[in-house]
Amino acid sequence: VTSEPTPTSDPKRRNLLKAAAAGVIGAVLGVFPALAGLVTFCDPLRRKSGAQGWFPVAPLESLPEDGRPRLFKIICEQVDAWTRCPNMPVGAVYLRRVGPRQVQAFSAVCPHLGCMVETAESGFICPCHKSRFTADGAIDASAGGPVPSPRAMDTLEATLEETPEGTMVRVQYRKFRPGTAEKIPE
Ligand code: FES
Repeated sequence: VTSEPTPTSDPKRRNLLKAAAAGVIGAVLGVFPALAGLVTFCDPLRRKSGAQGWFPVAPLESLPEDGRPRLFKIICEQVDAWTRCPNMPVGAVYLRRVGPRQVQAFSAVCPHLGCMVETAESGFICPCHKSRFTADGAIDASAGGPVPSPRAMDTLEATLEETPEGTMVRVQYRKFRPGTAEKIPE
């Protein structure tokens, strides 16, 4: 009875297999960082409902100097070799100028149950259950009666970025859990 050598018992073939395995591992290691980068890059889109990230929102000069808030939609406009998602709405924010180069940003989502807050004469009001907020986002109980929102409007981080077109306001957009006294990111 003769026994045929198994493929791996042949030293030449074993070396070949080793080389192939090393090639596969090398390829995986080489591709992985690129994949990780891609996922991070697309992150705001991947989590469409809880989208978050830094977005360019509006030129500083478009904000009234008297501190009146303006509403802006946050749109994802990434279009490049890997990602194509033009005009994808992510959320909405209010921006107001609180100094020559200082901006306050609020999520436009009501902290009570998630309706879209509107501007009012001296601040904000939610049309759903009439929560009122002052211009700086605090709960406004001055009109009397209960305010359904358990917390102030959700502030967002904002920064100014110098671009060739002028000063751009960038906002870190996040969503927060509705109905809680604490501001808990989703
Ligand atoms: S959702 Fe805004 S007051 Fe209820």
